[in-house]
Amino acid sequence: MEHGRQLPEDRLPTALTTTMTSPAALAEELAGSGVLEPTWREAFSAVPRHRFIPDTVWVEDGDHLTPVHREDDETGWMDLCYANDAVVTQVDDGVPAGPGQSGHEITSSASRPDVVARMLAALQAEPGMSVLEIGTGTGWNAALLAERLGAGGVTSVEVDPAVADRARRTLREAGYGKVAVVTGDGALGHPPGAPFDRLIATVAVDRVPYAWVEQTRPGGRVVVPWTTDLHNGALVSFVVGRDGTMQGRIMGNVAFMRLRSQRGKRASLDRHVRDGKGTRRSFTDLHPYDVFGEYDASLAIGLRVPRCKLIVSGHDGGAYTVWLIDPWSGSWAGLDYRPDAERLAVRQSGERDLWQEVHDAYRWWDGLGRPTADRWGLTVTPEEQYVWLDTQDDPIDRPST
Ligand SMILES: C[S@@+](CC[C@H](N)C(=O)[O-])C[C@H]1O[C@@H](n2cnc3c(N)ncnc32)[C@H](O)[C@@H]1O
Repeated sequence: MEHGRQLPEDRLPTALTTTMTSPAALAEELAGSGVLEPTWREAFSAVPRHRFIPDTVWVEDGDHLTPVHREDDETGWMDLCYANDAVVTQVDDGVPAGPGQSGHEITSSASRPDVVARMLAALQAEPGMSVLEIGTGTGWNAALLAERLGAGGVTSVEVDPAVADRARRTLREAGYGKVAVVTGDGALGHPPGAPFDRLIATVAVDRVPYAWVEQTRPGGRVVVPWTTDLHNGALVSFVVGRDGTMQGRIMGNVAFMRLRSQRGKRASLDRHVRDGKGTRRSFTDLHPYDVFGEYDASLAIGLRVPRCKLIVSGHDGGAYTVWLIDPWSGSWAGLDYRPDAERLAVRQSGERDLWQEVHDAYRWWDGLGRPTADRWGLTVTPEEQYVWLDTQDDPIDRPST
């Protein structure tokens, strides 16, 4: 199982399973599950999500993404629009690169409704405030913001010109024509509209652009999906200080596609794994689930092991291999899990011992008393970004990425 989608899209644990086909029903489900704040319920009920979803969307089919056309299956398409799930709306930057018109990589989507609800709650935006959104996508989130805050205060930046044009048109047709959709690189923010009261990124970063601090007023909030090469991601809610820095804590588990300029390199078993003479072989007692199956552990390990991507390939009988790949140096490690084995076989190759690095990072996290995700925080200054535990006076050593 090797493909370009190593990150789940906008994913959070959810208990919502009902099929819904109207914004009011979706709002009711979200409110019932406790993720939708009462102040946002009217907006979620009022904005018809299906009007923002293109007639062709994409669904996972094994290693590929295949298109679903509204004209072929109106009911199926409508169900996708109102399910509590991300809807994939563009693959491979608009030029499907998989075999037979299938897609390889998700490059735009309408985010998962419960994730959107959580992020809007974290933003603490009030009617009348000005908000800058990074990553317009379909325009649905911008419409929700406009519905509650007033369209005049909402600016949204989208890097893909075709996606931006479509969102602009859809917002206008749905009655939110005052939302300003800017085509450009959201890493630069939108200086002409600054300072904003709030900034929300719906695309993930590992390095938070300083422009986002500069363009938010002191006391304002910045909500960002933050990621490492190894770990899916975390939602960070920052408050901008008067000193030109911002600090924020991790608020939960989210995974978004990355900002275009921070996509980095794709890991590939075909390209990077060559099991041969130079492979170093050993065994480990550390179970991959303890390391990668626990959110708190994998988040912390991602802080210490840069430039390392994770791919899991399943085998028959419950066996699987965990692959760690550094696509920059070409180093890789494979950890073979077999249900009946007492120890796990490890293979490592290249200039880095990637499994050893992960193992050491796990011991480091364990030695710190196994801190939970909500104890980590981030500070962004004009010069740097650093991670701390409990207080920003206690930054952690982090290898540079
Ligand atoms: C998860 S989607 C956004 C979902 C959107 N907010 C909605 O309501 O549908 C992420 C979007 O970010 C865009 N994006 C990626 N890099 C960007 C950048 N550097 N600046 C602005 N937008 C970017 C992608 O093209 C994609 O449309």
